Amino acid sequence: MSAPLPIVRTVAELRAAIAAKRQEGKTIGLVPTMGALHEGHLSLVRAAKQHCRFAVATLFVNPKQFAPHEDFDRYPRDEAGDATLLASAGCDLLYAPERAVMYPDGFATSVLVSSVSTMLEGQMRPHFFGGVATVVTKLLLQAMPDAAFFGEKDYQQLLVIKQLARDLDIPVEIVGCPTMREHDGLAMSSRNAYLSADERRVAARLNFVMHDAIKAVHAGAPVDAVEAEANRHLTAAGFTSVDYVAIRNADTLKPIASLTEPARILAAAWLGKTRLIDNMAV
Ligand code: PAF
Repeated sequence: MSAPLPIVRTVAELRAAIAAKRQEGKTIGLVPTMGALHEGHLSLVRAAKQHCRFAVATLFVNPKQFAPHEDFDRYPRDEAGDATLLASAGCDLLYAPERAVMYPDGFATSVLVSSVSTMLEGQMRPHFFGGVATVVTKLLLQAMPDAAFFGEKDYQQLLVIKQLARDLDIPVEIVGCPTMREHDGLAMSSRNAYLSADERRVAARLNFVMHDAIKAVHAGAPVDAVEAEANRHLTAAGFTSVDYVAIRNADTLKPIASLTEPARILAAAWLGKTRLIDNMAV
């Protein structure tokens, strides 16, 4: 069994712990999370440990990235369980700040990334990327890591974070790590825990429908027709509704007409009250 993971809760404690490791000549890798950890998060910790000598995970369920009608209150929380998992993956330190540390009274600043955050998820969840960009900027400035690790599962979020680090000259390497999947292809997500057994069976179809769409577009079918067909297949498979299936430029997420540029397929669909997202390189 791994030793219990040290936990710090204030910016001063975090900075002191990191400064001590820098004194020892260690590089710092940061893995921001909202907890409810699964193998996808642990793969980020392992990547941080491969890349850097000291891995810090953060656990903060960020209220600013949830709209009032979303699942902030029921988002799964288990700090002790998460700390055990992090330690088993080789994490060295957990930073778990209270809300008042991240957003003290009088907090008045937001980080807004335009362009890449305005479409797809940004259209469906208009508050979301502002909340993510604000908290991630704070976490990066609090820890000042050499590198920070994010899953490609949240592909648009990864692009938004790369953009903010570039635009704000934050001296950190943003590393995207591959999506981890269940045996039937479903992308791992903390929200999969909300699915009933029946919904869980339907959820796996998302991955298959996206693969079929990739095949169709490679076979020469027009992008908009492939998107519409994938949308129909998801509804026929039992998804309650589909927010989007989109084949976009992989760097800008702007619409494309054909596969003459690097492309990504991205999808978001509902099963009952649970919203699933996924994406793949085309
Ligand atoms: O991907 C997540 O878990 C969150 O959006 C993040 C990056 C930890 C910010 O709260």
